Amino acid sequence: MNIRESVLKAIAASGEDFLSGGQLAENLGVSRTAVWKAIKALEADGYLFDAVSGRGYRISPQNNRLSAELIRAELNSHEDREIIVFDEIDSTNNYAKKLASEGDSHGTVIAADKQSAGRGRLGRSFFSPSGTGLYMSVIIRPEISIEAAQLITSCAACAAAEALEGLCGRQVDVKWVNDLYMNGKKICGILTEASLSLETSSLDYAVIGIGMNVLSVRGIFSSELSEIAASVEDEAGVKISRNKLCAEILGRLDERLEGIENREFLEDYRRREILTGNVITASAGGERITGRAVGIDDSASLIVELEDGSRRALSSGEANLCRIKNKSSV
Ligand code: BTN
Repeated sequence: MNIRESVLKAIAASGEDFLSGGQLAENLGVSRTAVWKAIKALEADGYLFDAVSGRGYRISPQNNRLSAELIRAELNSHEDREIIVFDEIDSTNNYAKKLASEGDSHGTVIAADKQSAGRGRLGRSFFSPSGTGLYMSVIIRPEISIEAAQLITSCAACAAAEALEGLCGRQVDVKWVNDLYMNGKKICGILTEASLSLETSSLDYAVIGIGMNVLSVRGIFSSELSEIAASVEDEAGVKISRNKLCAEILGRLDERLEGIENREFLEDYRRREILTGNVITASAGGERITGRAVGIDDSASLIVELEDGSRRALSSGEANLCRIKNKSSV
């Protein structure tokens, strides 16, 4: 680790407390000038510090630089998970899948400030501009049944919703299967990709890719995109640290995945889900259907009641409201 990385790690680890230049120099066994130069280099790289004479340095609450050190400093437990952060990458899911196929372990997280080819569900692209979003992919290797593996995406949606709600204090809804909504606008999408072992008919690994619009996207999203999607800051008026959010999601994901076999997250998922109770259209087995969404079953499938009273359980795909009902406002 070079001086720059050591200085950042030490300041990040001291959280809201100030760390003096002298203390830093002594702890790292370097000169105060070397510490000062490291701080200047970090500032030039986009990190924001509060520097107060007589007290020292700390990470500024306004800092918007995404970094592995800052994510690690926000984790609740002293985990040794691998955290890799890119300024720019094609897709964090692509990179995570490559690492997973090479044997990388459970818990590894890849995050990026920007994706040049972010991928969404159903072959769509996911717009991932710099400085505003959190794009992260987590490799998991849980020892769970194939039935439980099918619940990973909905489980992750609950984890991300809980994490965000805790930080911004506003209700976060889920739209089946795995979109997070705030005030009727999409603020987050999730793409889970899995590899099954044919030998053991079990899950080898899954990559959970989460893309959240965190800071204001006004002037960045096209007017077409702004009709359906927004950011947490624009909807809740709260600026959240992307590093903190990433750490919080990782913690909640661990907790939620623990209980996935017993479907512990389902109650929360049902409570948040916004299609339930509304007339929707969906594609099911190549056919377009319209009906009333009446609930979520134990496989996290959407139950749709058709006009003739028959019911269909949709396990994947996409459904949209025919009539808008915003759970946040009732
Ligand atoms: C969707 O809304 O259709 C899902 C979007 C998932 C986007 C995330 S961003 C991090 C990860 N990397 C990707 O290329 N996609 C996922």
